[in-house]
Amino acid sequence: KKWFAVIGDPIAHSKSPQMHNTWFAELNINATYIPIHVQAQDLSRAVESLRLLGASGFNVTIPHKEAILPLLDELDPMAQRMGAVNTVVRLADGRFKGYNTDGVGFVRSLEAQIGTTHRKDAVLLIGAGGAARGIAFAMQQAGYDHITICNRTVARAEALVQELNMGTAISLQQAELDLANYNIVIQVTSAGLNQNFALPFALTHLQRGTVVADIVYNPLITPFLAEAKHKEATIVTGVGMFVHQGAIAFEHWLQQQPDTNLMIATISGN
Ligand code: ATR
Repeated sequence: KKWFAVIGDPIAHSKSPQMHNTWFAELNINATYIPIHVQAQDLSRAVESLRLLGASGFNVTIPHKEAILPLLDELDPMAQRMGAVNTVVRLADGRFKGYNTDGVGFVRSLEAQIGTTHRKDAVLLIGAGGAARGIAFAMQQAGYDHITICNRTVARAEALVQELNMGTAISLQQAELDLANYNIVIQVTSAGLNQNFALPFALTHLQRGTVVADIVYNPLITPFLAEAKHKEATIVTGVGMFVHQGAIAFEHWLQQQPDTNLMIATISGN
């Protein structure tokens, strides 16, 4: 029997075990997936244990996505570029290879919902942290050829634009004023996770029909999405990204495609 895991701190809230175990059952795969609580100081010993105990693969979540890089034997070029890993695969020879499926998961989720024929040069990314980096790299690879990145700390947005060698960095205030210029707006700050910081800026100038995405999925409708919905935007919740990043990991591990639509509906509570 194969086994898989997710390591993180905290880990109890993770929906990954339920998601992957459901997929194993749906596809009649003899495997199991367990959550393992691993604190930062124990990461290296935890990875050694996963090796020793024969895990076929595992996911990596907060706070280990960056720290795990030097503990792996090989890195996918995209994970290397992002400097973050969320999926590890045990290769046939036993070596551990790291991938990052978060950004590509976001793009798949977005395009599953809105198709692929829209303009790819009018994207506004709000945020320039780790999650924003992953999405920016994946969007660039998927053919989005201009991204405007706004961030509270503009220097961080500028650094990301420089790394991408593409796009423009602006302030949150500027983004708020220019909002009508974008057909896709992606919220990747910690907004919505705590009550004091519900919105990165007001959506006064948001046009009807603009695609507005958030990567948070608990709550499903973040304060940002609620406001966007009120302004008749097309909203994309974070559940799709979560499910698709898991599905891409699953494909790396098992060379099979799990059912994402049913899983998105289940997790969204429809
Ligand atoms: P993650 O890996 O989840 O992206 P992160 O790297 O800490 O986490 O990034 C958090 C993002 O939320 C950053 O874009 C951050 O802006 P700064 O780069 O200026 O710190 C943004 N953020 C966090 N709290 C914020 C707040 N109160 N107002 C505006 N932006 C905030």
